[in-house]
Amino acid sequence: MINLGVNIDHVATIRNARGEDHPYPYLAAKDAIKYGANSITIHLREDRRHINDNDLRKISSLKKIPLNLEMAANHKMLKIALKNKPNFVCLVPEKRKEVTTEGGLNLKKNKIIIKKIIRSLNKYKIRTSLFINPSIKDIQFAKYLGSKCIEIHTGKISSLVKKNKKYKKEFNKIKNCAVFARSLNLEVHAGHGLDYKTTKILKKISQITEYNIGHFIIGESIHYGLKNTIKTFKKILKK
Ligand code: PXP
Repeated sequence: MINLGVNIDHVATIRNARGEDHPYPYLAAKDAIKYGANSITIHLREDRRHINDNDLRKISSLKKIPLNLEMAANHKMLKIALKNKPNFVCLVPEKRKEVTTEGGLNLKKNKIIIKKIIRSLNKYKIRTSLFINPSIKDIQFAKYLGSKCIEIHTGKISSLVKKNKKYKKEFNKIKNCAVFARSLNLEVHAGHGLDYKTTKILKKISQITEYNIGHFIIGESIHYGLKNTIKTFKKILKK
């Protein structure tokens, strides 16, 4: 089975544009699960530009919602994760001025803190995933650090497909990485910049068992509704 994780950060982006309460990320989380999402992803950024601490508290208290918390690899975020106990954590790099998460983690540079976070979260049975670029070296490093999963950054292939450029080389790179990661018994996830077309393309890589998709789902929901959008993705992933 292939899982769909719905990232609801941009429900909070719209809410924050007015500085009031509407629309409600926790309701979007409940609805997304009702319509077939397998998990909900939220990214608690250092600058709290979308999801805030209150959203995390509220959504993590909803026991029927499998929650994937994306966060930077530091002690402050580890403390917050241990307090709220999401089901899953995905460690991501974070630069304050970036528009979105622009690339994968620098595992070598952050190896001590990442190892520590994985060990701490393991104690509470919180599954940790590392957001990495499609690189064999990074997959070897992820295994060495004790991670159970990797999430491959699909930003480059998504951008090539959207611009109608050749994407075969990047596709093969992702495929080789997914095959290699599975040979090390790592679970393989994918995310960033995905829409219907890119998901259909990546779906051919059978080693990928989870897709985390945000911006396109929330944007498409304006036109076709959250229910239809999630159902279309579920259909793509089922075929
Ligand atoms: N996966 C990870 C680890 C991310 O950081 C993001 C962006 O927050 C996504 C998936 C979703 O990306 P998008 O919003 O482009 O679908």
